[in-house]
Amino acid sequence: MLFRVAIGLSSASSAHGGNRIQEAQRLGCRPEQLLDASASLVPFPPSRPLRRCLSRALTDCTLRDYPDRSHHQLREAISHWHGVDPAMVLPGNGAAELFTWVARDAALQGVSGLPVPGFADYCRALRCWQGSLQAFPLPLSWTAEAPQPFPLRPAADVLWITNPHNPTGQLWSRASLEPLLQRYRLVVCDEAFLPLVPDGERQSLVPMVVNHPNLVVIRSLTKLFAVAGLRLGYAIGTQERLQRWQQWRDPWPLNGFAIAAGTALMTDRSALERWMVRVQEWVAREGLWMHAQLSDLSGIRPYPSAANFLLIRGDASLVRLREQMAQRRVLLRDCRSFAELGEHWLRIGLQHRSGNRRIVAAFRDLLR
Ligand SMILES: Cc1ncc(COP(=O)(O)O)c(C=O)c1O
Repeated sequence: MLFRVAIGLSSASSAHGGNRIQEAQRLGCRPEQLLDASASLVPFPPSRPLRRCLSRALTDCTLRDYPDRSHHQLREAISHWHGVDPAMVLPGNGAAELFTWVARDAALQGVSGLPVPGFADYCRALRCWQGSLQAFPLPLSWTAEAPQPFPLRPAADVLWITNPHNPTGQLWSRASLEPLLQRYRLVVCDEAFLPLVPDGERQSLVPMVVNHPNLVVIRSLTKLFAVAGLRLGYAIGTQERLQRWQQWRDPWPLNGFAIAAGTALMTDRSALERWMVRVQEWVAREGLWMHAQLSDLSGIRPYPSAANFLLIRGDASLVRLREQMAQRRVLLRDCRSFAELGEHWLRIGLQHRSGNRRIVAAFRDLLR
């Protein structure tokens, strides 16, 4: 008997952060006036290779021609970075598009076990295929230990893992995830934030894909390079699985600019390594600073996180505080759309120190 859980989401915008344009309209200001800490993207300006490649794309044939449907160069670049066969890589229109296809496989395998609170898009993807799912609550208290053991063994056919977890920011150890590959018909591991986590790559399941045909790892360039507008992610899985997805999808799911940008970003290995070091140093520095600052405020409590975002919990509902922050042009992530969380919780995406200071100063003012 399949058990179906409704993980309720009222609207697309409340289910996701990063609605700067809509919020600016609502608040009567320009989007640039808002500090958007509701989406968790690196706060750095676009890298030089990215800017160079996008401006070149305006003058070569990228705009005029249909994109390369085989994504040959992009797949080569990604596979080289991860040390896997190019046939095991499928670029997607953001990780979100790939969740849709992996959910189709998941729906055929049986019940999907979803740790909650968790990223809402997995439910959206499963609903596309009438997939059955069951929510498994994660304990809502955790330590700063990183990595830490994955605490659940859901009774399900398919396991969806987010590493590091969104919204808690916990980094799961590869040692605790590896045995789960024997246990489930399909394991989906979303590593969208992993390259931002200091020393996070050591916990990646990418090296396991080659020996585990029931594993799919999904990655995103959105967070690492702050390119949410390009829509660029990729899956690493068996050739047979990815070829099947390729037959299901639109003929040109990725636009030419995204393909060109992804190829430029993933091809230059030393630039990519330097970028990741810079990002991870920022996460380590600002994560500690923000946690310490927020710990000093009364009425809210920050939770430990290995990622570039952290959760806070209020002694009382934080709905009004979030709106007051928005009136001060600071957007925070409403957590009411995360099952198991609710109005006592907010998620904050780390910024540059100046932005983090602005967030703390606004809190200090409002929580006096
Ligand atoms: C855990 C997680 N995975 C994936 C995504 C989506 O990534 P993309 O922009 O590549 O679709 C998000 C976006 O918020 C996310 O939080």
